[in-house]
Amino acid sequence: MTNMKIFLADAEATLRLGMILGELLTKGSVILLEADLGAGKTTLVQGIGKGLGITESIVSPTFTLINEYTEGRLPLYHLDLYRLEPNEVAALNLETYWEGVEVMPGIVAIEWAERMPYKPDSYLSVGLGYGDDCTRIAEITPFNCVLNQDFAARCTSYL
Ligand SMILES: Nc1ncnc2c1ncn2[C@@H]1O[C@H](COP(=O)(O)OP(=O)(O)O)[C@@H](O)[C@H]1O
Ligand SMILES: [Mg+2]
Repeated sequence: MTNMKIFLADAEATLRLGMILGELLTKGSVILLEADLGAGKTTLVQGIGKGLGITESIVSPTFTLINEYTEGRLPLYHLDLYRLEPNEVAALNLETYWEGVEVMPGIVAIEWAERMPYKPDSYLSVGLGYGDDCTRIAEITPFNCVLNQDFAARCTSYL
């Protein structure tokens, strides 16, 4: 599968797309979110958290940089690089998260991934753009990985 475009009529649809990802993604998956402020990145990650079975509320890590949630099927590492310059991002050694050596392997979701000076070998790129009437369009592109084969069908029936 190459890239997929998914229409998201409202915030609920963005949450549901995240839930599908949260249910299907495997350990070590990295989701790189590249989209404008207010496009729905945090909303999507809130859905991923729900899909993983996290009941704690997922809040934007814009000021905390990273929030970790460990109560779900897999740990969720939610990062937001908005306030950082690429050289500051490099100093964070983000690979620690996706290598899962020093931290428990889980799902890594990164908002403002365009700030990253380097990327993992494999990841899911998620772009969110605007459609008519404040709707959103997600564009999902797997790099060196494949999406679960149920993904497209689940999107068609649940969004
Ligand atoms: N598909 C959608 N259609 C309309 N509004 C949406 C959609 N997805 C998310 N939103 C809304 O957009 C606003 C910004 O979302 P947020 O997830 O905080 O964006 P970001 O993290 O990209 O800045 C929220 O009010 C959210 O409910
Ligand atoms: Mg956000």
